[in-house]
Amino acid sequence: MIPHKPLFFRFPAFAVALAAAAALLLAACTGPAAPPEKPVQSPAVSAKFHAEGDGLALTPPMGWYPWNIFGQEPQNEKLIREIADALVASGMKNAGYAYVGPDEGICFSRGADGLLTPNLQRYPSGLRGLGDYIHGLGLKYALYTDAGSKTCSTAMPGTKGNEQVDMKSFADWRADYIKIDWCNSEGQDIVKTYSLLGQAQRAAGRPLVHSLCSWGDGYPWQWAGAIGHMWRTTSDICAPGAADWARALRIAFANEKLADYAGPGRWNDPDMMIVGMPGLTDAQNRTLFSLWCMMASPLIAGNDLRGMAPATIAVLTNLEAIAVNQDPLGKQGHVVWNDGNISLWAGKPLFDGSRAVLLLYQGKHRAEKKILWEEIGFAASDALYVRNLWTHETSGPLTGGVTVGAGPDEASFIRVSKSNDFPIPPIITADTYRIALRAAVSDPQAPAGTITVTNKGSAELGPWKIDRKSFPSWLSVSVEGGGKRQMFVNRVSTAGLTKGAYHALVRADNVEPISGRPMSALYYDVELEVTDGVRK
Ligand code: GLA
Repeated sequence: MIPHKPLFFRFPAFAVALAAAAALLLAACTGPAAPPEKPVQSPAVSAKFHAEGDGLALTPPMGWYPWNIFGQEPQNEKLIREIADALVASGMKNAGYAYVGPDEGICFSRGADGLLTPNLQRYPSGLRGLGDYIHGLGLKYALYTDAGSKTCSTAMPGTKGNEQVDMKSFADWRADYIKIDWCNSEGQDIVKTYSLLGQAQRAAGRPLVHSLCSWGDGYPWQWAGAIGHMWRTTSDICAPGAADWARALRIAFANEKLADYAGPGRWNDPDMMIVGMPGLTDAQNRTLFSLWCMMASPLIAGNDLRGMAPATIAVLTNLEAIAVNQDPLGKQGHVVWNDGNISLWAGKPLFDGSRAVLLLYQGKHRAEKKILWEEIGFAASDALYVRNLWTHETSGPLTGGVTVGAGPDEASFIRVSKSNDFPIPPIITADTYRIALRAAVSDPQAPAGTITVTNKGSAELGPWKIDRKSFPSWLSVSVEGGGKRQMFVNRVSTAGLTKGAYHALVRADNVEPISGRPMSALYYDVELEVTDGVRK
């Protein structure tokens, strides 16, 4: 449950059905109800997963959201801009973090015309202006809303009854990610409601990462892959500002049980991380990050990125751990055995034939344990190399197994391979996701703008393939360069255009060369202003 809010905001049924509320409360305290043996086929579940169409989030989304550390009150444009700047300056952008924006930050109200109106006191540039700033940094824009009548604090309107117009507003503001909460939704059918929101998003014409946030209510892992890209599996990981280690571990153990439901474009979300929040040790930060990487969980940081300790930055930007999370096969690791003090997390084959393995120590003393090759998907006779993902040291070749050890609340996080080479899958960054051009109808010059896309992973990529159907004929795009760094050159022709503002969303696709798996589609915006004079 969420201690920062009155109970009735989250559980209105409390007043009318004590028994139902008690069951919900129990679930909220202990994690979600255990998943049933078999997935329930609801009418919303089609043969296709949603991400197969838009190509988004084929690896778990990475970014930052304000709720865990800040809660509601301090959220405003200045804070979000400072965090976006810090995300770049700290090296997190280069490690793959991209989605940034306000959570329930009182961003908008509903105007008399029924449309969402940005809160200009808190966000003076408007919600489009904030998005432009974030895109200009080479980051992606995340926004928040609620599927019910109001958001959780009731300070913002929910989408109920306004699904189409609200999704159009998010598209107009150029959002790339929308978190949709489930507060104040009493009487609503959860599958129908989120399906309707998914249809409204598609109708709005801007593909975006859809993050369902029902805290496990309605068993979203059974049906949400047809609608969105990730779904919260549990109650909140902490009250704002109050990291809670025991609760985080309970959440991890509830989430790992849902491993079979995750895959490229559809992720179990055990909530934003608490890494770097006050009260956690460096070892706990490493352990939490290791668990989230192992579970292929969205890596959404929840700490204050301004003035982070170097040790926190080192945890959040550990590319060898992120490589496990961003692995193109998209398998979620899970508990193989648990003796009460130590648990073995495995079942995460990686794109190069290696496997990620984690031992979590919850006893009172330092312990050592031998991991046997048969327990983790290899043969006992295999000669294997072991990469420690925190010390970045390799040992081996070893046969039979490897002995690892750690203290309470620590995890041994390793990658095991037949080869002494541990490639990093593609980690894509861009210098900007927005090109803004100005042209005059009478001007023969074709203005151009370039976006440089860099792969921080170890493999060289083939050229990105532009989806020419994804943008109008006034724009032409070519890809130059190859390997680690490629340039998207965007040229405009004003022939046939009249004065006005034009917009194009460009989609490009690529394939990871080692596994041959499709990579997440890359989208960016081209804005064109056509004037009727001569270009100045
Ligand atoms: C719910 C969500 C949180 C946060 C708050 C905002 O509790 O689970 O992540 O978005 O609402 O009120």
